[in-house]
Amino acid sequence: MNELSVSHLLGIKDLTEADIHLIFETADHFKEVINRPIKKVPSLRDITIANLFFENSTRTRLSFELAEKRLSADTINFSAASSSVNKGETLVDTVNNILAMKVDMVVMRHPNPGAGVFLSKHVNAKIINAGDGAHEHPTQALLDAYSIRERLGDVAGKKVVIVGDILHSRVALSNILALQKLGAEVKVCGPKTLIPKHIEELGVGVELNLIKALEWCDVANMLRIQNERMDISYFPSTREYVKQYGLNKKILNSLSKEIVVMHPGPINRGVEITSDVADSKQAIILDQVENGVAVRMAIIYLLASKIKRNEN
Ligand code: CP
Repeated sequence: MNELSVSHLLGIKDLTEADIHLIFETADHFKEVINRPIKKVPSLRDITIANLFFENSTRTRLSFELAEKRLSADTINFSAASSSVNKGETLVDTVNNILAMKVDMVVMRHPNPGAGVFLSKHVNAKIINAGDGAHEHPTQALLDAYSIRERLGDVAGKKVVIVGDILHSRVALSNILALQKLGAEVKVCGPKTLIPKHIEELGVGVELNLIKALEWCDVANMLRIQNERMDISYFPSTREYVKQYGLNKKILNSLSKEIVVMHPGPINRGVEITSDVADSKQAIILDQVENGVAVRMAIIYLLASKIKRNEN
């Protein structure tokens, strides 16, 4: 199979295992491209992509923009803060105005869960979800799983613990779904107040003790506390959180095996991980960022291939 089973990338839940392997194999090729002296291919010279960011972003936005440029697509960038959304324009009207300028694909980050699904039903363009509220962040999960595959050879059979604010995290849900589809075992770890009720129904284990979770895993994905999504306090203080769930070098060195440490960014150094862990050889945080460009190139390329097939 060399075609995705989906027409949009709205969430990991819609992808098959074969889709994920196809994305990874395509990303392998693009990773080789972006490490050449000329880091660009002419594949998408006939495609125009709009990047619509209704929420803050550094990595995802720059990574998508670079992926599009490396594929030679034309791009336009939209940021809600400086747009007519502030004058009351609806999401569908905003996007339809952009599409009237002959745009083929929309990459969208939005604070509302399901915004990408909504858009895919109302506008005639390929939609890529770049994060929708606390729901899904599919490209982050794909680049995370790709980075585990790169470091450990395979995702199947690996034990991955996701640590921290699971309750408010779109990265956690997308990672759980992607890792399970690829045959990994997943646990979550954090204060009970930040673990969603009934998460076990997803086939995920819960471990409240950080040391036990780290002793169990091959990979620890350390998540940020998402203060911007909290309207109440979920733990007594940041100091208390760091004491119980912060990963430092002393803990890392005390484990009976060498684990891989991941973080989707942005990092709060000294909270979820200390600087000496973030900058250690066991951390693959910057590999995740590098792989993000190749994985996003693969997703854009595979969805654009569908547009071209329909045109022919
Ligand atoms: N990992 C991630 O989504 O980072 P940004 O919010 O900076 O895009």
